[in-house]
Amino acid sequence: MLRPLIAGNWKMHTDINHGAKLVEKLRELVGASEDVEVLIAPPTTSIHHLHFLVAGSPIKLAAQNIHWETEGAYTGEITAEMAHAAGCEYVIIGHSERRAYFGETDEWVHKKLIAAVRGGLKPIVCLGESLEEREAGKALEVIATQLKGALKTLAMGVLKDLVIAYEPVWAIGTGKTASPDEAEEVHAAIREQLYDMLGTEAKVVRIIYGGSVKAANIDELMGKPNIDGALVGGASLKPEDFARIVNFEKS
Ligand code: PGA
Repeated sequence: MLRPLIAGNWKMHTDINHGAKLVEKLRELVGASEDVEVLIAPPTTSIHHLHFLVAGSPIKLAAQNIHWETEGAYTGEITAEMAHAAGCEYVIIGHSERRAYFGETDEWVHKKLIAAVRGGLKPIVCLGESLEEREAGKALEVIATQLKGALKTLAMGVLKDLVIAYEPVWAIGTGKTASPDEAEEVHAAIREQLYDMLGTEAKVVRIIYGGSVKAANIDELMGKPNIDGALVGGASLKPEDFARIVNFEKS
């Protein structure tokens, strides 16, 4: 049984003041949840300040994106090392919004994955098919291609802290969740591919689900054998809802 990871992706919401209020509330509500790893990914401008505010609590920080280079003329970008120094333990890589709006490719995801490891960040690599691809019966094929493109020939030694997030694009921010069975089918396929690519040590890789996760569906999702946590967007901005998700009860 892997330690579940519940991660809140705040996306481009909240300034420092708003973020500080959310953290204050979350600290009260998630208490010392030792059984579950709790993570928030605030906008870059808030990370360092929130790093001080989460100190002594079980809440950890993630960056929403990094560049793969170590430094250079890349206006608007940050390195893995910068995110790490600002207080991040994790980084989200290849979110479907970055793929759709910022041209992120599997190749970039791969480079960012290497950069994350280099910079001491634990990578959360996002995979997900579009509605069109699902309706064409291609979901598993798309996911397999994305996973292969992200990992290429990297070995388990390098990827020991890897987390995979399965986030069907059609379920993100739409209120439409993949049913627990639909999600489990993809998670099981990802697990199998990880074994094929990385060997049995890949059993430590957590595969978390994202896409309209909320208090009302977390229990059933977490009841599935290959769902090891959740990447939560909208509901992570509501402390009560996020705390309920953290305190899920498997069903
Ligand atoms: P959502 O977002 O929970 O609002 O659907 C999930 C995500 O994009 O990580």
